[in-house]
Amino acid sequence: MSRKFIYILLILFTAFVLSSCTKEETKTEPEQEFKLVIPSNFPAPEYDLESNPITKEGFELGKMIFYDPILSRDSTIACGNCHIQYSAFTQTDHSVSHGIDNLLGKRNSLPVMNMLWQKNFFWDGGVHNLDLVPINAIESPVEMDETASHVFEKLRKTERYPRLFKNAFGTEEINSQRFFKALSQFMLMLVSANSRYDKYVRGEGGQLSADELEGLQLFKEKCSSCHSTDLFTDHSFRNNGIKNDFKHDPGLALITYIPADSGKFRVPSLRNVLQTAPYMHDGSLDNLESVLDHYTNGVKLSSTLDPSLNVNGTLGIALTETEKTKIISFLGTLTDEEFLKDKRFSE
Ligand code: HEC
Ligand code: HEC
Repeated sequence: MSRKFIYILLILFTAFVLSSCTKEETKTEPEQEFKLVIPSNFPAPEYDLESNPITKEGFELGKMIFYDPILSRDSTIACGNCHIQYSAFTQTDHSVSHGIDNLLGKRNSLPVMNMLWQKNFFWDGGVHNLDLVPINAIESPVEMDETASHVFEKLRKTERYPRLFKNAFGTEEINSQRFFKALSQFMLMLVSANSRYDKYVRGEGGQLSADELEGLQLFKEKCSSCHSTDLFTDHSFRNNGIKNDFKHDPGLALITYIPADSGKFRVPSLRNVLQTAPYMHDGSLDNLESVLDHYTNGVKLSSTLDPSLNVNGTLGIALTETEKTKIISFLGTLTDEEFLKDKRFSE
């Protein structure tokens, strides 16, 4: 009887050791996958990672927060409602953002990707630190209409969050610094750098067709003065002639109060651009054909129009129909399917 019991104990013990070994193995595998990769064709990062080192636990907490509607007043809207993975973390079915109580914002939602390389946030650059971006959404009356302090109170009452904060930061305390750092850790991991174009420039086997290569050449000549580097933005604020009346949205002037900044908006990245329609700060252009038509014959004259779009009184950028098609084919090579479908980032 007692020998039988010892046998059973032995079997159980072996089973336990074996199972913890295999657990260890499956545990280390995703751990290796979890790594922030700095692409060799990108410029130097802007975010200070030393002030907020990314850990798997911090990232998981940030992801949980990003997809949790508890952040909104009536628990209906999560960050992920306006920043949807398949459209490079932007909202595609609305020209301007669509938030709580079906209220509309004033601007087209921006994609959340490659935040590590950005120094000014929003279309008007009104925020200079990624950690300070989310509070704007939480407290905006047309987005989530909540207060940050009430969000923390609600999270403290849940079963899961104190534990997740402990995993990420060592104790169960939920405070504003930890909350926003975790959200940033999730957003910083959203790196898109594996499009066919990237694999072509890094010599990793990506091929571009003859049309796409000609499109790339045309893009370099006609567009890259503003959409520069492999991030496809020089991070400057410019007026590209979408409007000539800025009363509804003065853009950069809203932040600087300088009249000469009226109508200037941040040059957006063009990565995954096929997925991020509608286009421009007001979502006024539905497709890339309209965008190219805008640059050739839709540019509106105003005192703040970028000088490069008004050369000797000729407005816009000269392009033939075939050239436009080639530029659009090239822009298609910036779609990064790995990023758009990466399960680590999914809800
Ligand atoms: C109702 C829709 C909506 C919700 C909800 C929302 N956002 Fe946004 N988000 C936007 C819009 C619109 C912009 C652009 C605003 C602007 O430029 O004025 C934006 C911009 C951003 C940016 C700046 C990107 C850049 O390139 O400058 C980040 C980061 C961001 N949101 C993260 C979040 C996070 C985190 C949450 C949740 C706490 C959130 N958003 C909730 C609509 C939303
Ligand atoms: C003078 C600088 C400048 C040049 C040159 C320029 N752009 Fe832009 N581009 C901008 C600015 C600024 C915006 C945002 C304007 C806004 O929202 O009001 C923009 C927006 C866009 C968008 C919309 C992206 C989005 O996510 O909404 C696309 C697409 C685009 N540009 C493509 C091009 C192409 C293609 C060319 C060359 C034919 C080009 N641009 C040349 C400054 C420029």
